[in-house]
Amino acid sequence: MSAQKQIYEGKAKILYTTEDRSILLAHYKDDATAFNAQKRGMISGKGEINCKIAAMMFQLLERHGITTHFIDCPAPNQMRVRAVKILPVEVVVRNIAAGSLCQQTGLTLGTVLPYPLVEFFYKNDSLGDPLLTHDRLLLLNLATPEQVEELQRRALRINEILTSFFHRCGLTLVDFKLEFGVDQQQKLLLADEISPDTCRLWDSTVADPDRRVMDKDRFRRDLGNVESAYQQVLERIIRAVDSN
Ligand code: TMP
Ligand code: ASP
Repeated sequence: MSAQKQIYEGKAKILYTTEDRSILLAHYKDDATAFNAQKRGMISGKGEINCKIAAMMFQLLERHGITTHFIDCPAPNQMRVRAVKILPVEVVVRNIAAGSLCQQTGLTLGTVLPYPLVEFFYKNDSLGDPLLTHDRLLLLNLATPEQVEELQRRALRINEILTSFFHRCGLTLVDFKLEFGVDQQQKLLLADEISPDTCRLWDSTVADPDRRVMDKDRFRRDLGNVESAYQQVLERIIRAVDSN
């Protein structure tokens, strides 16, 4: 199945149509951006690494009954996915305080939250992806009340599955971002990607707050060794999958 027309270029992926209208081809890029693309760079090999990680995460979730857009990977940095209309909502789940939660609430980095926190952000680059309230989300018709319930329920279930899997990899799942879409049969599917670009992952055996970072925060915060952290995450995931 070959790529036909480019229909979308995002910060980390390009989407192409295929000869089957219900299937799209996603090319994972090495480009990296942060702070709403104000910071730009490259993480060499990231496209392949993230594509492989995302594929394994989607397969893991499918095995646990979570429906996703994943079909297969025809090449190391390419993924065939079911065509969906993406809901303009980013669903963030947090287990430990980091990033914008610390900036906006004053919580100390690393504070273990008493329960997983689910937050919704408006997927809108020109507005800088602002945090949404439940009422604003409904007011703007970004999702139906039933979809909001389902997003919340599914995000928490995904958190359980991923937290336990990453624990086996020696990684702590601090927080992550999910995107969902609706297919031609109106089914809600997990879409986009799950990778060190979209998750905060800390090495469980390292206490140092900079050295433990194994995700895109190494790029965001100029911590160095970005490629090797991504590669290390991939290797640990492969080992955990193989030992199953
Ligand atoms: P935040 O703390 O900056 O709100 O990020 C929460 C999580 O969402 C973190 O794991 C990184 C991920 N994320 C994305 O995947 N894309 C984004 O554009 C942002 C801002 C965060
Ligand atoms: N991907 C986002 C951007 O460049 C932000 C981030 O991941 O920090 O806007």
